[in-house]
Amino acid sequence: MKAVKTLGQFIIEKQADFPYAKGELSRLLRDIGIAAKIVNREISKAGLIDIIGETGEINTHGEQQKKMDVYANEQFISALQSGGECCIVVSEENDEHVYIDSEISKNAKYIVAIDPLDGSSNIDVNVSVGTIFSIYRRKSDEGKATLDDVLQKGTEQVAAGYVIYGSSTMLVYTTGKGVNGFTLDPSIGEFCLSHPEISVPNQGNTYSINEGYYTHLPAGVKKYIKYCQVEDDGTSRPYTSRYTGSMIADIHRNLIKGGIFIYPATSQYANGKLRLVYECNPMAFIVEQAGGKASDGYRRILDIEVTELHQRSAIFIGSQKMIEKAEEMMAEFLPENAKWISGLNEKLNGVGQIN
Ligand code: AHG
Ligand code: MN
Ligand code: MN
Repeated sequence: MKAVKTLGQFIIEKQADFPYAKGELSRLLRDIGIAAKIVNREISKAGLIDIIGETGEINTHGEQQKKMDVYANEQFISALQSGGECCIVVSEENDEHVYIDSEISKNAKYIVAIDPLDGSSNIDVNVSVGTIFSIYRRKSDEGKATLDDVLQKGTEQVAAGYVIYGSSTMLVYTTGKGVNGFTLDPSIGEFCLSHPEISVPNQGNTYSINEGYYTHLPAGVKKYIKYCQVEDDGTSRPYTSRYTGSMIADIHRNLIKGGIFIYPATSQYANGKLRLVYECNPMAFIVEQAGGKASDGYRRILDIEVTELHQRSAIFIGSQKMIEKAEEMMAEFLPENAKWISGLNEKLNGVGQIN
């Protein structure tokens, strides 16, 4: 019989990868794992108790806030507060960054960005939802951390992960040394290592995009969708289309089986819908660590300058070859303001040069 390795054991083992680490990051990951178990417990009861439905409040982005969004937000913030390793939390559910003002968190080194519940509109209909988190080291050494500590590029992440509350509950994370996945064993209440060293296939046969927006999509995306649908034995096309409305569920599937997830700019959302800091960057870090690619159609997600907490970005993420193919088609229809895309001329290789 194979020995079970729990998330806690794994985190302690991996601490040796960071010779100067004092265990703060490990404790932070542990705190997130605890909150995830509490949120999981409530989500699994969502159909039974009167916790589903809307609060009647509208969040920062003008969306209806679901009760579970609020509950998950509170649970993660409170776990980070009692853990003492995090000084600021940036959350989809809070307009401003939230200071953790307790005595023990004052000099904490880490900043956590979270989407406490991703795909929350799926809660009422029993489709998988998730939590996304991203961890940064604060830039300043001491004193009260500021917004400047928070606005860091995706390349600065020290860890990122997600929890998927699905047919089973999993926690998947990276600290920049590969990606590992843990499945919650409800009988012992522990996340157990089930998917060591996840690697995303270079090429998949699934594409995930909301095709209902077809008329509003950029020309390059329309061309890519048509490419996915064409019959071609050599490249196993047509590809399969899968889109749940929970980014976590779609990216998790593509991470394991290969595939591409796209949430592009549309005429409704000029910069896409998804948020850079707590949706795109953590998922990009994880997918890159698994050998995949994440881009806004033109440039690497992790290199995008962060200027606002709730900044949005288009995203193309998943199997390397599929992202490259989509980027190739995006480059054929460059927006007028494309000059800012550094390194683009080199990448275009003579196709559609911009001056
Ligand atoms: P959230 O529930 O955190 O607001 O995120 C929902 C996101 C993402 O998970 C999903 O892929 C996307 O919104 C779906 O949007 P559309 O309905 O516009 O396709
Ligand atoms: Mn989300
Ligand atoms: Mn959310």
